[in-house]
Amino acid sequence: MSNLTELGQLLHEEHFRILVAVCGLENRVGGAYECQPLDAANAEDRHQLEELVAALDEVIGHHAFEETVIFPLIRQCGKRELTNALAIEHLAIEPMAMRLRVVADAMLQSGTGAERWSEFRAAASALIAEVLQHLQKEELNIVQHLDEFLDPQMDHQLALDHLADRANSRQPAFAL
Ligand SMILES: [Fe+2]
Ligand SMILES: [Fe+2]
Repeated sequence: MSNLTELGQLLHEEHFRILVAVCGLENRVGGAYECQPLDAANAEDRHQLEELVAALDEVIGHHAFEETVIFPLIRQCGKRELTNALAIEHLAIEPMAMRLRVVADAMLQSGTGAERWSEFRAAASALIAEVLQHLQKEELNIVQHLDEFLDPQMDHQLALDHLADRANSRQPAFAL
């Protein structure tokens, strides 16, 4: 991955963070953990649920950046079919992410019964499969080819803008 552009590196880092969250989720809902619901009363489980909610929010923000900045630029290079397919995948992933976020939030607020854990596992499983194949497609078709779609100056400027947006979005909304 050493030949990525600056913007490509940022996108790759975001994909990697999403991948880590999704793989952590996959481990926690399958195998030996299937019958061990995440319990918000347990500090470690609570932290995992909070991290998951943050990761799901990051997925939505990441999609918005791709759709408003990256995809239009790639479309201009004649890759309309690719960007349309990826945008359709976003439309499939986002309701799944929101569904899982709602269940995770409910677990944080009012605990995990058997039915809620089953709902969580179903929502997680559906999301994991979609996200993994989407990340792979974007890494292969976009991240590794950004140098073909953007000149170095534009790539550098977009990377700076994106870093600034990320920093701003982390600041408290009502800072005194
Ligand atoms: Fe992406
Ligand atoms: Fe995407």
